[in-house]
Amino acid sequence: PKTRYYHFELKVIKLSPDGFERPVWSVDGQYPGPLIQANKGDRLVINVTNNLGDPATIHWHGIFQRGTNWYDGVRGQTQCPIPNRVSFTYNYTLEQSGTFWYHSHFLAQYVDGLIGVLIVHDREDPYLNSYDEEYVITVSDWYHSPSAPLLIQRTAPHYTGGNPYPDAALISGLGQYNCSAAPVGSHCNPNVPPPTYNVQKGKKYRFRIINTSAYSTLTFSIDNHPLKVIEAEGTPVKNVSVATVKFLPIHIAQRYSVILNANQPVANYYIRASIIDSCLAARTNDTINYNSSINFNATGILHYHGAGNNKPKSIAYPFTFPLCQDLNANAIRPYKDSPAPTKVTNDFVFEIYFARDDDDVAHLGINNSSFMPFFNNPTNLRIMLQENYTDFDTDQNAYGYDIPNGCVQITLLNNKTADHPFHLHGHNFWIVAQGPGAFLSNISKSSYNLKNPVIRDTTMVPRLSHVVIRYIADNPGVWAFHCHIEWHVELGLVAQLIERPTEFSNETLPDDVRALCLEYNSYSKKQK
Ligand code: C2O
Repeated sequence: PKTRYYHFELKVIKLSPDGFERPVWSVDGQYPGPLIQANKGDRLVINVTNNLGDPATIHWHGIFQRGTNWYDGVRGQTQCPIPNRVSFTYNYTLEQSGTFWYHSHFLAQYVDGLIGVLIVHDREDPYLNSYDEEYVITVSDWYHSPSAPLLIQRTAPHYTGGNPYPDAALISGLGQYNCSAAPVGSHCNPNVPPPTYNVQKGKKYRFRIINTSAYSTLTFSIDNHPLKVIEAEGTPVKNVSVATVKFLPIHIAQRYSVILNANQPVANYYIRASIIDSCLAARTNDTINYNSSINFNATGILHYHGAGNNKPKSIAYPFTFPLCQDLNANAIRPYKDSPAPTKVTNDFVFEIYFARDDDDVAHLGINNSSFMPFFNNPTNLRIMLQENYTDFDTDQNAYGYDIPNGCVQITLLNNKTADHPFHLHGHNFWIVAQGPGAFLSNISKSSYNLKNPVIRDTTMVPRLSHVVIRYIADNPGVWAFHCHIEWHVELGLVAQLIERPTEFSNETLPDDVRALCLEYNSYSKKQK
């Protein structure tokens, strides 16, 4: 194993991902940020210097952070924000392999561009000999407005209008906005080159696909090339009901690897990522930023060696997709059988909650509690310092669940009319049940799949449905469990799972984590 060092500079640049120029919150002036590639077992040491003008954090989505909970990057839960002009170093080992990503976990900064991809290779990957080369593709929605004003509107008193509406879809940070719709005075470049992936006839390619959206499910496809799914969020998978898929639905924060067989006539083919509009949480309400000229479709080019520059032939493409569910519902299973634990020791029922506070501001939450992060003393620090850690359940600012050692089951009931992709930090989980019906009475325990259920770290919980997950509490720390629609995070749709709190200790808390909070506290005083 190797130690790999990175220096990230966070800074705001001007960029036109889909033609439309806007300020972009970037890592090293790039969007998406630099690709990190490592091998299983390696250590990553990533020094982040913040020159954004605002505080920031970086979260490493899907990485377990065993023994390094304080480098999980979650503002208010595992660390204080990194103030402007301050550096902070993340330092952790990679026990997993597969496709991951990183993003800011401070306000809606990642929607403004602070994202990147993290790949962990594995010599024991069962598919290693099934492809010749590999590519990384991000798919996402994209906004022309910075997130801050959108968030202010979304959290304003008396606001009833739903979530901010995206302006475009992107493939690997590139899209095709219709510049004639751009407002007067803006800058728009109508000639953004399409993202292009070169292949050679007769070879096979692994594509790693990551949905880095704020709000949208996308469907990914490559014309005339069915895709064989081989990985979901770090777990090698096999297809069960069908050998290949034509359209891969991919929810926010989910990742897949697929194999493409370049066995078609030498030509150019469209790569497509389309926002599934029926899956935009409760789209019919969305009045912030609503613009009917949104281009739901981004295209790229699969270019066969020797094909010349001709435009791809167009095919019959459905353009609207009814489904808003995980692919795992019937299509994939882990490559290696891995039964779910049969004995549950901690059984939780989480109900999605909506309420308006005294100022008539909308909040989402879990079980009658909407989450607000601690600014100056994140939960893990409070616990490790044994300050104020009495009973989080009565603390309205940071709702927490004590998770003792054992097997945790969470039954998540979504009896609301919006769809919520849920992500668990620090773990992946077995999905033992999911389907329509948002009440316990809709769920039959006898139908749980414990034999070989899908394992992942992010799952879609469509409106009026439920999901039942299990995981082992083998990673002491403070872990977020939340809807990954960024607008919903800011409304409080987050639970803090405080895993084995008696096992945190001051001895293991690195000085730099505590020092960062001191710096942040004096920084925030100066701001006042
Ligand atoms: Cu992508 Cu809380 O994470």
